[in-house]
Amino acid sequence: MRRNVILFGTALLLSLGIGFAQEKDSAQAPEAAPPPVAADDAAKKNPVKPTPEGLAEAKRLYGYHCAMCHGKDGDGKGELAVSMDLKLHDWRDPSTIEKMSDGELFYIITNGRGKMVGGEGDRTKEQIRWNLVNLVHSFGKKSGT
Ligand code: HEC
Repeated sequence: MRRNVILFGTALLLSLGIGFAQEKDSAQAPEAAPPPVAADDAAKKNPVKPTPEGLAEAKRLYGYHCAMCHGKDGDGKGELAVSMDLKLHDWRDPSTIEKMSDGELFYIITNGRGKMVGGEGDRTKEQIRWNLVNLVHSFGKKSGT
């Protein structure tokens, strides 16, 4: 009798364990990738040429709004990114984003994407957002220009 109770208990624990594991799987699975940036937006050309002043202005903002995730020098290892376990591109290697157009980067900076919630669209002038695009590229250039 006692043995049966133990067996029953073990079976119960096992099935609970399996149920739990399944629940965890289904909770993780649907993290669908955000939809791609629309062709119109991706095709936009950057109207703002990088200048030292423009980059400096973007960098100030970057320090407040972006560096906690993307890292002070664009390595993608900011404190918040580490604690959220985000796998961000290391922009110091330009090949990580070479397939993305300036229009796409601008769109993502403006609207956010996935775990990059919000975006700068409603709080930062368009010109500065394009300068942020320039700044993102500047992390991948050794001379810092
Ligand atoms: C909460 C963390 C977080 C903050 C803050 C954040 N980002 Fe992001 N960013 C992300 C994540 C996550 C992605 C990848 C999104 C995806 O494609 O799913 C991303 C993607 C990007 C991209 C597209 C290129 C790439 O590497 O995927 C750009 C450009 C970008 N961020 C710029 C910025 C700028 C500029 C700021 C500040 C104005 C900023 N981000 C603030 C998390 C963040």
